[in-house]
Amino acid sequence: MKHIFQKGNDSSKPTLLLLHGTGGTEQDLLPLADKVDPDANILSVRGNVLENGMPRFFRRLAEGVFDEEDLVFRTKALNEFLDEAAQKYAFDRNQILAIGYSNGANIAASLLFHYPDAIIGAILHHPMVPRRGMKLPNLSGRNVFIAAGTNDPICSPGESEELRSLLEGAGAKVDLHWENKGHQLTFHEVEAAGKWYKHI
Ligand code: MLT
Repeated sequence: MKHIFQKGNDSSKPTLLLLHGTGGTEQDLLPLADKVDPDANILSVRGNVLENGMPRFFRRLAEGVFDEEDLVFRTKALNEFLDEAAQKYAFDRNQILAIGYSNGANIAASLLFHYPDAIIGAILHHPMVPRRGMKLPNLSGRNVFIAAGTNDPICSPGESEELRSLLEGAGAKVDLHWENKGHQLTFHEVEAAGKWYKHI
């Protein structure tokens, strides 16, 4: 997968895995990583599915309607890419924390749903429930920050609560942060994510 790796100056920190929103690139979330932990390694990946030329991490059939088979396939591929990247760049495979926005948050949530050891936690900006009707693995010890919008036209408040309760039901520790806004990524929620990160 096309990506950027930037070595941090403190190897005791997790590696931050950055996953952009639909139509984004691996450049988009670099400023977020700097806010959250300027000393950590950064692995920022570009989704390799194209929707009318816009990069994404998995296919969808319509807005908010995911191609589940493709989601499962791409989640596995991303998890394998993390194995390869950890070897190539010599960082700790067991210390990856994802930061995703929208479509990138959805595949980060899907990593948690399918691979309990893929990431130690995640900052999810405006995620949805990636899949329903499946049993989640044991996620105890995993920390998740969700930033959601009370007026998000893509993800309703009910869906954000549903994601929280699915993750908590699997044992993860979840903090749900509300913005009185829509689907956009706000400076305020990035600051809140940075504060949350300092306490995990
Ligand atoms: C998705 O397709 O992952 C969600 O609808 C969010 C987005 O628009 O990317």
